[in-house]
Amino acid sequence: MAGTTTETFAERLTGILNGGALSLMISVGHRTGLFAAMRGHPAATSQEISDRAGLSERYVREWLGAMVTGGIVDYDAPAARYRLPGDRADLLTGVGTNFAITAQFIPLLAAVEDPIVECFRRGGGVPYAKYTRFHDVMAEDSSQTVVGALETTILPLVPGLLDRLHEGIDVLDVGCGRGRAINRMARLFPKSRFRGYDISDAAIAGARAEANRHGARNVRFEVQDCAGIADREAFDLVTAFDAIHDQSRPDAVLSGVRRALRPGGTFLMQDIRCSSHLHNNLEHSFAPFIYTISCMHCMSVSLAAGGEGLGAAWGEERALEMLRAADLEVLAVHHLDHDVLNTYYVGQPRT
Ligand SMILES: C[S@@+](CC[C@H](N)C(=O)[O-])C[C@H]1O[C@@H](n2cnc3c(N)ncnc32)[C@H](O)[C@@H]1O
Repeated sequence: MAGTTTETFAERLTGILNGGALSLMISVGHRTGLFAAMRGHPAATSQEISDRAGLSERYVREWLGAMVTGGIVDYDAPAARYRLPGDRADLLTGVGTNFAITAQFIPLLAAVEDPIVECFRRGGGVPYAKYTRFHDVMAEDSSQTVVGALETTILPLVPGLLDRLHEGIDVLDVGCGRGRAINRMARLFPKSRFRGYDISDAAIAGARAEANRHGARNVRFEVQDCAGIADREAFDLVTAFDAIHDQSRPDAVLSGVRRALRPGGTFLMQDIRCSSHLHNNLEHSFAPFIYTISCMHCMSVSLAAGGEGLGAAWGEERALEMLRAADLEVLAVHHLDHDVLNTYYVGQPRT
């Protein structure tokens, strides 16, 4: 960075190290239920907090040390009591914007550091199956960016779509993962018929289990490589939530989507919000996060499957180019306030 002195850069690096460490501790706080156990409670001792969360006090006290010095939890030293203020609890336990859910990506990616380092030396990629918690974390993440906003914000991006869903149409979700979005739609619109495709057996098993729990009869899930979608003019709506950029053959997926849509049908695609050009992303507040996730996961899983390694930062310019190349006409591009990491594209088959 221009004008940076060695001292200010060292300070910045210190902040980076502390930020990385705190991301890990925030993830731990989420997974152990500590933020939820502190939310809405007055200041309490580490023993009281541990008892409430059902956890070991010694670990909780050390975690609280990180939370207090990191400016996340307030500390009353004379009384040795800790409190999570309400506005901070909202951002760490809420639905909509919950940074603790997103923080889980850091340890998830760190777990594959060794094979990724090997890829830097030898090329290739790390396959999806090596990311042990990926589908769990992704499902949680999609619950906050997609599932909660479907009815109020995302589906209304397409004029008249809510009415058509209520009347009954055919819908496909490509790369549906654990299927939270499509399962939610199946419950909201009982007269419509839903299908979810994903290449992961584990993700599809989770999606089916959720559908069964809710007794949903209008949704079906299939393990399927979306590069080979065989359906022809079978769907009125195809959705793809954060599922195009990490495909091995995103061009083939988009062409398959085009062929699977009925004339006048709609393609609704959510994908990472950034530019295709590095120099345009300098002011993007999440740019280092996006490039890191891309390098450690999205690009790498695509390369592992022999793909082109498009990466999470493929960007809006490239996305528009690829949609058009697949004969999909882009009708609108949206940025939504609740989802700063993604862009929403509305397209239809070119006639
Ligand atoms: C980033 S995740 C998004 C999952 C889901 N749409 C969500 O929002 O939670 C991308 C998904 O694409 C799936 N996927 C990757 N390559 C695929 C392929 N060739 N065919 C089908 N699904 C694929 C992955 O298994 C993963 O579930």
